[in-house]
Amino acid sequence: MKKKLNEDLNSIANDTMEFLNEIADSYPSAISLASGRPDSRFFDLEKIDYYINTYISFISETQKKPLNALFSSLGQYSEASGIINEIVSKYLLVEYGLEIAPEDLLINVGTQESLLISVLTLCSKNDDVIIVEDPCYVGIKNYALIAGYDVSGVKLNADGMCLESLEKKILKFQEIGKHVKVVYVVSDFQNPSGIRMSVEKRKQIIELADKYDFFILEDNAYGDFCFANKMYPTLKKLDKYRRVIYLHTFSKLIYPSVRIGVMVADYRFEDGSKLSNQLKKVKGYTTVNTSSINQAIIAGILIDNNFSLKKYNEKKIENLREKKILTLDALHKCFRTNNEEWCKNVKWNDPEGGFFMVIDLPFDVTEQDVIDCAERFEVIFTPMSFFQLDEINKKNIRIAYSNIKEDNIIIAVERLYNFFKNKIENGKTKY
Ligand SMILES: Cc1ncc(COP(=O)(O)O)c(C=O)c1O
Repeated sequence: MKKKLNEDLNSIANDTMEFLNEIADSYPSAISLASGRPDSRFFDLEKIDYYINTYISFISETQKKPLNALFSSLGQYSEASGIINEIVSKYLLVEYGLEIAPEDLLINVGTQESLLISVLTLCSKNDDVIIVEDPCYVGIKNYALIAGYDVSGVKLNADGMCLESLEKKILKFQEIGKHVKVVYVVSDFQNPSGIRMSVEKRKQIIELADKYDFFILEDNAYGDFCFANKMYPTLKKLDKYRRVIYLHTFSKLIYPSVRIGVMVADYRFEDGSKLSNQLKKVKGYTTVNTSSINQAIIAGILIDNNFSLKKYNEKKIENLREKKILTLDALHKCFRTNNEEWCKNVKWNDPEGGFFMVIDLPFDVTEQDVIDCAERFEVIFTPMSFFQLDEINKKNIRIAYSNIKEDNIIIAVERLYNFFKNKIENGKTKY
């Protein structure tokens, strides 16, 4: 057979994840400032049995069912929408004050599946457009492109998506007969920028959703990792029109291999029917159901912690805050305590939470730079251009401080500094 595959695969020819994984494999001694993974030192896998037992005992007691039958049911196919919806509904109430009926929840294979199901259910390939932040998390952008949907970016300001640009874009698409059906936002500590959306903008985008008839996909992968005194209300909490589909994941809060995400969709159509029923139908034909065993682990953790993960994650969040401060200190030491002219134009943000920060540079950074830096200076970073759609700015990079050991931070930042210094001194770049 000739190699003729889905032509839309070409639209993700620059596969960011594959590229970064290859670099990490090729240069194993390089320290990674590119990996946005959670820190595995905090995973409590040794307690899996205990958590499954906690869940089974809880259900046996509350629903008066025999333990044996409950155990064997974990090996069976199960409800497409999930088996732990009541427990998760209680968690959403206790932890976030969200009042969501269990039937408006889907327990999915991580947020990635929630994104896929949302797009497949809501969007028509011919008529609809998906808007994302630019720069944006690659999981939605690349899935939508492979599947042949129209995706368009709206620039991200320091306080979240630029809503004037969003409105202009909606009207521009209207002129050519296209409807913006979905707007995807990571409102808290966005990947890749670390930015969080202001409360004012949260309220405004909800009004725009009602005015222009679109759904908001709120991906809250990082909201719990807040270093500031105040967490902002989620869009879902402010959602008076039920147009926010809220995506929660346990990948960062617990561990990613458990592959459990929660999708909250309480929208009702004009005829009174539920959006969640349509989503459930699509879920049934994508992954059939999410692993019951993995759902049981999550439910056990929630029950064991009285439906709040705040205490469970206290140390994790404190450690992340400490690593962010160490990264800022290292950047200051390397780029501020000497008088080199080019260093004055190196700037970075100080995110109030999450896993990522951005460094602005006075020169362009290319893919070849990532390779050179890994090979000769033994540190890996991600150019922000990897996450961009329309607005290509090659002068900034993403730094992930989530999965690096504390002692390695200063070493990694010094290596980065040396790489940039070398690039400038060799006259390879102007600044
Ligand atoms: C913004 C964002 N959403 C979703 C995910 C993936 O979530 P999950 O592991 O639940 O599929 C990531 C992972 O990096 C992410 O950065």
